[in-house]
Amino acid sequence: MNKLAILGGTPVRDVRTNPWPKWPVWDKNEEIALIEVLNSGVWSYNGPKETEFNKNFADFTGVKYAISAANGTVTLLMALEACGVGVGDEVILPGLTWQATAATILDVNATPILVDVCEDTWCIDPKEVEKAITPRTKAIIPVHLYGSFADMDEILRIAKKYNLYVIEDCAHKHGGEWNGQKAGSIGDIGSFSYQLSKHLTAGEGGTVTTNNFDLYEKLDALRNCGRRPEPETEVKADKGEGVYFDAGNFLQSGNYRITEFQAAILIEGLKRLPEQNRVRDENGIYLNSLLKEIPGVIPMKRDARETKEAYFNFSFRYNMADFKGLPVAKFRAALTAEIGIEVAASYTPLNNCSLYVPLTKPARHKLNDEYWAAIDPSRFKLPVCDRIHFEGSACIHHKILMGTYADMDLVAAAIRKVYDNAENLL
Ligand SMILES: Cc1ncc(COP(=O)(O)O)c(C=O)c1O
Repeated sequence: MNKLAILGGTPVRDVRTNPWPKWPVWDKNEEIALIEVLNSGVWSYNGPKETEFNKNFADFTGVKYAISAANGTVTLLMALEACGVGVGDEVILPGLTWQATAATILDVNATPILVDVCEDTWCIDPKEVEKAITPRTKAIIPVHLYGSFADMDEILRIAKKYNLYVIEDCAHKHGGEWNGQKAGSIGDIGSFSYQLSKHLTAGEGGTVTTNNFDLYEKLDALRNCGRRPEPETEVKADKGEGVYFDAGNFLQSGNYRITEFQAAILIEGLKRLPEQNRVRDENGIYLNSLLKEIPGVIPMKRDARETKEAYFNFSFRYNMADFKGLPVAKFRAALTAEIGIEVAASYTPLNNCSLYVPLTKPARHKLNDEYWAAIDPSRFKLPVCDRIHFEGSACIHHKILMGTYADMDLVAAAIRKVYDNAENLL
């Protein structure tokens, strides 16, 4: 009866008869909103749905301005450009993140500086940030990874000391709070993603948030081919041609715009987000309390300053020695078979990641030999990222936290079963 599912036994959760909560979540309201957009014929940018969503998201996040765009990659790009990051600048980011955080830095011809993360949160280590600062440093991008928060107090202290921009990558943190302040309202700019797996989604999409009018004006122009923000409020630097005008130069940009269809879905999704986040937080606390009892499983650290948790993935740390030497990949495969949902490794550290390979694009990036050497990711040493990714990470989509305590009991029971049977997998 206790035979592991991966070896032909009965899984702890049979998802054919007992599926996990579905993701994405939608109902009649999305259907009505989408039909409304369809019938209006207003499908593109600056429409009523986009305007409404931007206002709602700004209110929700506690900022003055929210500007939505095509996805969470272009929002990072816009954020970097709005801060004036470019040739000769360095931007410090964690080595453990999705490739877009680094790739967008390259796209503005600046140098990504990868630093190590904290073992207990997997977020950027402020001590490593401070060590990496040079006269060229222009910005820091903390990433609030999976269910954790970067130490924003320390990041802000360092940024102030060295006069740096802080761009929060909040692709995983819609609605999370640090000291009562929402993610995306703490640094100069917050960048969000609505890709399908995210806990607020329109399939694709993104938003930047800021309290700074000058940054807002640039961000809005950047998303819209360099045009000035509409409606035309407080526009300071405008030649009267509907084109953003900055320090004597027109602002070159492209089309990074969101559609009315995406905005319509986001308006409805945002109404559900606070309650979904509350349920995930409650279940996360309960599940972590169960995991603490299993040897070799270490819950992520929850800092007392994280006043509201938001989960993109539920993750935890794994110690192979306690599992009789069972390699983490085998542990994840066995747990996947027990619970019927993928248990994945963390992101691959960016110093050796097949999706972050700047040296494959000499036509774009080989500006000179010095820059070419500077952007070689393999020059960065990231021992903590390596340890997390290769030896000790387990990450599960946030939908497992959307059910009941009984669901959490099953996850813990499945991990316990793998623990009890570890020798059968060696
Ligand atoms: C940390 C992080 N930043 C940025 C992005 C990019 O977002 P998008 O997929 O919407 O372009 C992602 C997407 O997974 C992400 O996880």
